[in-house]
Amino acid sequence: MKSNEREQLTLTEQYVKGKFSEDVTGHDYWHMKRVVKNAEEIAREEHADVFICQMAAWLHDMTDPKLFNDIKQAEAELNQFLADIDLSSELKKKILEAMADVSFSKKRIPATIEGKIVQDADRLDAIGAVGIARVFAFGGSKGQPIHNPEQKSGTSIQHFYDKLLKLKELMNTETGRKIADQRHAFMESYLSQFYQEW
Ligand code: ADP
Ligand code: NI
Repeated sequence: MKSNEREQLTLTEQYVKGKFSEDVTGHDYWHMKRVVKNAEEIAREEHADVFICQMAAWLHDMTDPKLFNDIKQAEAELNQFLADIDLSSELKKKILEAMADVSFSKKRIPATIEGKIVQDADRLDAIGAVGIARVFAFGGSKGQPIHNPEQKSGTSIQHFYDKLLKLKELMNTETGRKIADQRHAFMESYLSQFYQEW
């Protein structure tokens, strides 16, 4: 890795840490850090551009309408930050492209391999042991019940069926799919014990 790339990554990490220090919905600094690690691992296996994947992973939630009230303002701030760290306009474009269609709610598949990798990396953080913790943290922050056998929607357990158990099939890369398989199996075993205890 070129030394200015390392600096740019460090500055980006610090920037993200400042922005997400207060979040309790599962989109905190540690979520971003795990997504960066996942993205780096997948990018190496898939021979994609590791730097672009890491940068886009750090920034992938930076313009999410769920997290920022004023999206225009969030986009302007992100653009300013990317200019401040001296990214070439070509790299800047690739990074913005790689983070554009990551969100599950957009129901889109990113156009570039780096975008596909960041999407897989983000989705991996929604499944497995960490994913389970995040569902209940998110649900709690919205005042949503854990489970209600008489209620088909609006519970955290229902969210497993609405989203989490579907993610394995939606992986873009072979490497992401392999990691997802193991995390998926863990969620199934978690659910079966959950119902047994219930
Ligand atoms: P993305 O940023 O990919 O669009 P979300 O913001 O929808 O993802 O999800 C962030 C985290 O919150 C995930 O771990 C997800 O499983 C959890 N989550 C999202 N919606 C719900 C919900 N309705 N109930 C429980 N957990 C949720
Ligand atoms: Ni995310």
